[in-house]
Amino acid sequence: MYFPIYRPRRLRADANIRRMVRETSLSVDDFIAPLFVCPGEGVRREISSMPGNYQLSIDELVREAAELESLGVPAIILFGIPESKDELGSGAYDEHGIIQEAIRALKAEVKDLLVITDVCLCEYTSHGHCGVVEEGRVNNDKTLELLAQEAVSHAAAGADMVAPSDMMDGRVGFIRNALDVAGFDQVTLMAYAVKYASAFYGPFREAAESPPQFGDRKSYQMDPANAREALREAALDIEEGADIIMVKPALPYLDIIHSLRSEFDYPLAAYNVSGEFAMIKAAAAKGWIDGEQAMLESLLSMKRAGADLILTYFAKEAARIL
Ligand code: PBG
Repeated sequence: MYFPIYRPRRLRADANIRRMVRETSLSVDDFIAPLFVCPGEGVRREISSMPGNYQLSIDELVREAAELESLGVPAIILFGIPESKDELGSGAYDEHGIIQEAIRALKAEVKDLLVITDVCLCEYTSHGHCGVVEEGRVNNDKTLELLAQEAVSHAAAGADMVAPSDMMDGRVGFIRNALDVAGFDQVTLMAYAVKYASAFYGPFREAAESPPQFGDRKSYQMDPANAREALREAALDIEEGADIIMVKPALPYLDIIHSLRSEFDYPLAAYNVSGEFAMIKAAAAKGWIDGEQAMLESLLSMKRAGADLILTYFAKEAARIL
């Protein structure tokens, strides 16, 4: 009779032994919380497809940030909903734009939180595209100028880190250079290096009021079918001076996170996007899954795949549990 000499279940027998041989762990240190800032005062408007997440006016943003800080979350990333939008997204690089004012308020009142800004034009343009539109196409090089102005204005307001999410060619180098020239060589750059044209951004576009008014983002964001191209994109951003590289979305792209982890010795972030969050919340609300366990399991899977950092709308909830 065959009898196993090695019995894997021995290492699963009780909580202590499981704890001792556990290979991956989640920590509040891993989290970056995305927050949406809008005009007004005392505004705290829940995003219907993202329960527990809000459009916040600056006073409420400061309160939310202070709470995250007290829970030990090290960083937030800001998305802006401007007062008005135009063709060239001028609210994005306005010295008194919504994000620039938000950064100043945060820096004055929440001292121990790292402030990251999303650098993109789609929330600020009337057409909802991530750049300058000419004859129905996004003009790459004209967009670079505006993104650089945006990044420099965030740095001037006090941002610790900028995160370009537009997917224009050459933007990391262009922005890094503009920051250095303006004297912001200490501002960190996290590149959305590998960002796919994904269906999982739906709830975010509601939250940020940024859906494209015509067409889609397939001429600048990556084709979900491509994995080798992800390595080229990451290599380019590293060459151009990115400090941290990101893969987005996370769950449907764990293979990409894993391959970037084995290929590059740079800090790696995963963006657990709005659609991933909404799916778990919706299924949990119907009683179809245990929302808390599904949240922790999916966050853990991103760490196991090789992510060091996770941008997630679960940051506050997970921080409370951890
Ligand atoms: C801006 C931007 C988007 C997200 C982050 N930055 C939207 C998009 O590219 O359409 C999506 C984040 C999410 O879904 O949680 N370009």
